[in-house]
Amino acid sequence: MRKNIVAGNWKMNKTLQEGVALATELKTLLAGKQPNCEVIIGTPFIHLATVAELLKDSVIKVSAENCADKPSGAYTGEVSAAMVASTGATYCIIGHSERRTYYGETYEILREKVQLALANGLKPIFCIGEVKEEREANKQNEVVKAQLEGSVFNLSAEEFGKIVLAYEPVWAIGTGLTATPEQAQEIHAYIRGLVAEKYGKQVADDCTILYGGSCNAKNAAGLFANPDIDGGLIGGASLKAEDFNAIINAF
Ligand code: 13P
Repeated sequence: MRKNIVAGNWKMNKTLQEGVALATELKTLLAGKQPNCEVIIGTPFIHLATVAELLKDSVIKVSAENCADKPSGAYTGEVSAAMVASTGATYCIIGHSERRTYYGETYEILREKVQLALANGLKPIFCIGEVKEEREANKQNEVVKAQLEGSVFNLSAEEFGKIVLAYEPVWAIGTGLTATPEQAQEIHAYIRGLVAEKYGKQVADDCTILYGGSCNAKNAAGLFANPDIDGGLIGGASLKAEDFNAIINAF
């Protein structure tokens, strides 16, 4: 059975104190509740240990937003998957378009990151999605296919079963332009079809595919109502506990 998930991605926002306040607020809002989806918050590295400790008795799970493509050693400023796992975080966002675009993360680098995350017991939330020009040229399907083939279709079926996919059209991220539920459902179904071709129907049926890109309390229910949209990866709207909670309640 595949899981529905609402995951926040704080990106480079919130000081440690602000992050603790936000996590505390969310914990309070969800106290004693059993949401109809798994709830994850993705925080900057420096928040992970404190936030994971704060949330250890709550339903909220913690994710990193990135990890290094090397296991350990002389890589100044990098944070390994083992270090992330040691904080109590259980997920790791990998391949976000901002990392691909601004930090030059290639298919090969992302393949290493996914492998290292899995080897350290973390569940990757692997992001894919096309830019505006590619959508305008109707190339979105080939783009997401190449991204999957380049970085995750090398995994065994067992390994692939541990990853969550997030379709995030780059033109919808932080722009207020959301994919329509029809556009999102269409490509989510295509992505699930690719997974079925590669790993078989059962693995595809069990694969959680999140939508990300200007998803908010107003449009979440319309998106999540579709059979192949299993939740959201939320940027801006995850920075306010009430907004994020409203998206969780869309399930
Ligand atoms: P926004 O929700 O701010 O558009 O960001 C989406 C995103 O990039 C989540 O990873």
